[in-house]
Amino acid sequence: MGYDGTGHEHRGHDHRGRDGESGTRPRRVRVVPGGPVLIEGPIEVEHDGQWVRCDRFVVALCGCRRSGTLPLCDSSHRRAMAGLQRR
Ligand code: FES
Repeated sequence: MGYDGTGHEHRGHDHRGRDGESGTRPRRVRVVPGGPVLIEGPIEVEHDGQWVRCDRFVVALCGCRRSGTLPLCDSSHRRAMAGLQRR
């Protein structure tokens, strides 16, 4: 644990915002109804006991469980939603 003079103690993980300023805001997550969970990257996510790293600026995690590339979204949710709209 360290102290960097900003008023925040560091316990081994990074509190910096996407703009590089320390302690300015928490990481944002957006949940798309029927679709993915969008997270500011880069991230590492555990899936089936494996850590998957994604360096994209915004990472889309599958929330519908239809993706062929779990845990990441492959847009399969769009076909499922299009099918629902045709009914
Ligand atoms: S949310 Fe996009 S494929 Fe599941």
